[in-house]
Amino acid sequence: MKNSIKLFNTDCLNTMKELKDDTVDLIVTDPPYNLGNFMKERATNLKQMRPNSFYSAGWDDLCYQDWLNNMDVFFEQASRIIRKGGSMIVFMSLIKTESVIKLAQKHGFYYKTTGIWHKTNPMPRNMNLHFINSVEGWIYFTYETHTGTFNNDSKVMHDFVESSLTPKNEKKYGSHPTQKPEKIIQHFVELLSEENETILDPFMGSGTTGVVSRRLNRNFIGIELNEDYFDIALKRISDVKAEEKCTLKVVHG
Ligand SMILES: C[S@@+](CC[C@H](N)C(=O)[O-])C[C@H]1O[C@@H](n2cnc3c(N)ncnc32)[C@H](O)[C@@H]1O
Repeated sequence: MKNSIKLFNTDCLNTMKELKDDTVDLIVTDPPYNLGNFMKERATNLKQMRPNSFYSAGWDDLCYQDWLNNMDVFFEQASRIIRKGGSMIVFMSLIKTESVIKLAQKHGFYYKTTGIWHKTNPMPRNMNLHFINSVEGWIYFTYETHTGTFNNDSKVMHDFVESSLTPKNEKKYGSHPTQKPEKIIQHFVELLSEENETILDPFMGSGTTGVVSRRLNRNFIGIELNEDYFDIALKRISDVKAEEKCTLKVVHG
């Protein structure tokens, strides 16, 4: 069976409106956490931040209400596109999890779990002044049902996942400031979907969800606004060696 990969270099808030109803089995996505203004307002020393940091990337500094409005459109469209019983993982900073849960529930998603990704080797910045930031959150939902695919093979699944920061060999086509390790995304794709099902990541960044989906013989729809990140994603996904052949459709906005 041939898998299908569709990649859009467009704004997902528009492109999602064009995707068909009930056609996606799993959404794994990592939207902007919108922490740029928060960091600036609390006088974080931005000069010391890496130039490639998400604080200065330009997509992470909306006012809170604009960010909420965008997330509302995202969940509205996600609820239309995902099938009943499908699952969704949304990565998010811990201080924003309640906002995300409320919006997702408004659009028919059933809240299951808030979990943690723990990074085992975070930057020890100002380590004698405060706790080192080593975690990000993820939120697990099902759509219109209380359970979904859960391939745990009778093993206990904890609500935290752990890995080192994204390794260099996953950045060979360029670097994204908030690139997730393939190992973490693979955990969710294997657990929450089956082969030949369709995975959507509307905030695809450097394409990590696409790389994993392709490798695991899933269909994939990825959307990314930024041209440079999109190019990295296209190269990474095209590079994957998978058992199944695939068709690749690329749309530029
Ligand atoms: C947190 S990053 C995702 C990183 C990704 N998980 C990875 O491993 O590379 C969020 C991405 O969403 C993109 N983005 C922000 N707003 C968007 C929009 N309206 N439509 C599509 N992409 C958007 C940003 O350019 C950024 O690359």
